[in-house]
Amino acid sequence: MERYINEIRQIVGDGEKLAYVRSFGCQLNISDGEKIKGMLKNAGYSFTDDENKADIIILNTCAVRENAEDRVFGIVGSMKKLKEIKPSLIIGISGCMTAQEHIAEKIKKSYPQVDFVVGTSALSSMPKLLLDCLNGQKFGADIAEYEDFSEEAEQVRESGFKASVPIMFGCNNFCTYCIVPYVRGRERSRRQEDIVSEVKNLVHNGYKEIMLLGQNVNSYGNDSGRKNAFPELLRELNNIEGDFIIRFMSSHPKDASKELIDTIFECDKVAKHLHLPLQSGSSDVLNRMNRRYTAEKYLETVDYIRSKDSQFSLTTDLIVGFPNESDEDFQATLDIIKRVKFDNIYSFIYSKRSGTKAAEMTDFTSDEVKGQRMRKLLEFQREISSENYRRFIGRKMRVLVDDVSKKRDGFVSGKSNEFIIVEFEGDKSLIGQFVDVEIIDSMNWAVSGRMI
Ligand code: SAM
Ligand code: SF4
Ligand code: F3S
Repeated sequence: MERYINEIRQIVGDGEKLAYVRSFGCQLNISDGEKIKGMLKNAGYSFTDDENKADIIILNTCAVRENAEDRVFGIVGSMKKLKEIKPSLIIGISGCMTAQEHIAEKIKKSYPQVDFVVGTSALSSMPKLLLDCLNGQKFGADIAEYEDFSEEAEQVRESGFKASVPIMFGCNNFCTYCIVPYVRGRERSRRQEDIVSEVKNLVHNGYKEIMLLGQNVNSYGNDSGRKNAFPELLRELNNIEGDFIIRFMSSHPKDASKELIDTIFECDKVAKHLHLPLQSGSSDVLNRMNRRYTAEKYLETVDYIRSKDSQFSLTTDLIVGFPNESDEDFQATLDIIKRVKFDNIYSFIYSKRSGTKAAEMTDFTSDEVKGQRMRKLLEFQREISSENYRRFIGRKMRVLVDDVSKKRDGFVSGKSNEFIIVEFEGDKSLIGQFVDVEIIDSMNWAVSGRMI
């Protein structure tokens, strides 16, 4: 890889050529986008947020739902014009969409403005593909699966105080609706010592939030036969000196052990919040989704957490309209939401992904009914969040300020330890700092208060 990067540098010079990298989808993909930027930086590129000024454009794509793919095809289509204006422009497509052979084929056939496609497990081939383009090759593609190159990859991080750290790649769970195992391959865990040394460096360089990433962080280490490796990792990271907070996602409910929950409570730097994707409140639907837990088992985990802290903050992912979801199944989802009182839900209408098991299932539920259910779910959760958030009034919350408020002038906003959005009066000099805030008001999407 180094050799190609050096050769590119000789062609593009030192920082004069501009790269535009746009990532879609989950935080793991955004983290890959940061590695792509690292590679381009080493190859001599600087960065721009304006695709019109770019000499190279990389779209780092997501395939999780059909609308994510449609959006990318729309953007690639509109880039034909850019290429006509500037024929030397290089357009590359990476990420989960390109890891599917039929998509790579479609791009090659129907989007001649694209110069190369590179799959999620072939990122280390990107410098070679780019060099070939610079040397005049018409189209290049590599969607093979190689060893991860993560340990050597430099990351150009978007933020100077929040860092994502992938601890594992891929997924073994094959939930029947999900494309991820097909586009990201099997689970591979990074070595504990590499993660610890990366986090030490980040903390030393002033990072205040470390977000550990994996499709199922609870199975970290399973691929090398280790038991409870994730709680162990959390404990070791918690021992690193410095003022910072540790978050992680996602946790699969089937592997959310008591050991993990005890560790969250024991480690002062680990955020007191758990994102625990439920997907559906119906055990029948969960079974057809191959989630390998029941609604009852999920509630047992919630009850264990809440026996330790009755106010503990939980968030979740939900899919509405899985094939043949009945009114009763949907009602079971509403019932469990009411029982658990999530602080936030991320809900999606089921999207058929070709190649997955659910795509073969017949589905008698109409799109109209699915849309109605989604609206009902959002309305239902809005009421729960409004009620929930009132419990924070009068509390002192520690907030990592991440931006000025988009809604109110003279206000800043950040996330509390519990992953709640907090707004308060302040200026942008506070961005990147921890601030104690006394909560005086609540809305259904955030709380607000005054700096102590
Ligand atoms: N690994 C995580 C887990 O098991 O919770 C989820 C990762 S997935 C990238 C993020 C979310 O997308 C899932 O939790 C699910 O709710 C949603 N999702 C995945 N496939 C979907 C599909 N075919 N249609 C709709 N939503 C989907
Ligand atoms: Fe997809 Fe399931 Fe793996 Fe999550 S655990 S990435 S939903 S297959
Ligand atoms: Fe999308 Fe790939 Fe993530 S499909 S959600 S970018 S792992």
